[in-house]
Amino acid sequence: MLYFDQVTLTYKENDSPVLDNISFRIARGEFRYLTGRNGAGKSSLMSLVAMATQPSRGQIRLMGQDVTRCARHQRQALRRKMGILFQEPRLIEHISVFDNVALPLRLCHISEQNIHTSVIELLKWLDLDHKANELPAALSGGEKQAVSLARGVVHRPLLILADEPTAHIDNESSKRILRLLSELNKLGTTVMMATHDRWILESYPRPALHLEGGKIMQVPSREVFSTPDSYDNLSSAA
Ligand SMILES: Nc1ncnc2c1ncn2[C@@H]1O[C@H](COP(=O)(O)OP(=O)(O)OP(=O)(O)O)[C@@H](O)[C@H]1O
Ligand SMILES: [Mg+2]
Repeated sequence: MLYFDQVTLTYKENDSPVLDNISFRIARGEFRYLTGRNGAGKSSLMSLVAMATQPSRGQIRLMGQDVTRCARHQRQALRRKMGILFQEPRLIEHISVFDNVALPLRLCHISEQNIHTSVIELLKWLDLDHKANELPAALSGGEKQAVSLARGVVHRPLLILADEPTAHIDNESSKRILRLLSELNKLGTTVMMATHDRWILESYPRPALHLEGGKIMQVPSREVFSTPDSYDNLSSAA
């Protein structure tokens, strides 16, 4: 599904790389956490997978294609198979919650009746169906995050990239988001979720890719907080 081979990402020339010669593989149907302290490079790695950034060196293969070489239309086709949730919710402010979530389906020309069924079902899952007609401005930060998650998964992508989908939200809302991602994963969706939320990593243990000093380590999520760089001390307040 996803394969990084000796990938390096340096933002500016002469700067030390954010990601330094990293290699890993995620098979179809897996659910992996991406962990690491602030600035470790989680969002940068997500952005490479989302094809929003090009690596400085190395190869990235996604769903069987070399993303650094494929043509623009192939990249667009790959993106349609992905659900991307950025760290900052990016909702369209002048349209309703319903229309925000419906957007990816409307772009695929799905019938309005089917759109209605899918969108309302998802909003119910997230306990937000009563906000369907509100504008994003009427939502709390956590609700905005949940709506952007709904928009990212409504078209049933093969791969979900979720960058800290539970940051700044309470445990109940986090549980709901985790349940939705787990449910989609059970149905076969591959999930990659960046987080440094200790409560999640310990309550919902899964394999993690842990970034530290530009390098990547594969660890069970329960062990993320016993890595050598005192990550534990830094993150216990999170
Ligand atoms: N577009 C950019 N241009 C230059 N430097 C960048 C850019 N994006 C990120 N960086 C730098 O790369 C490093 C990794 O940032 P990144 O956002 O990937 O970390 P992160 O693990 O997602 O952190 P957080 O937990 O705070 O979200 C940081 O030092 C950051 O300043
Ligand atoms: Mg980040």
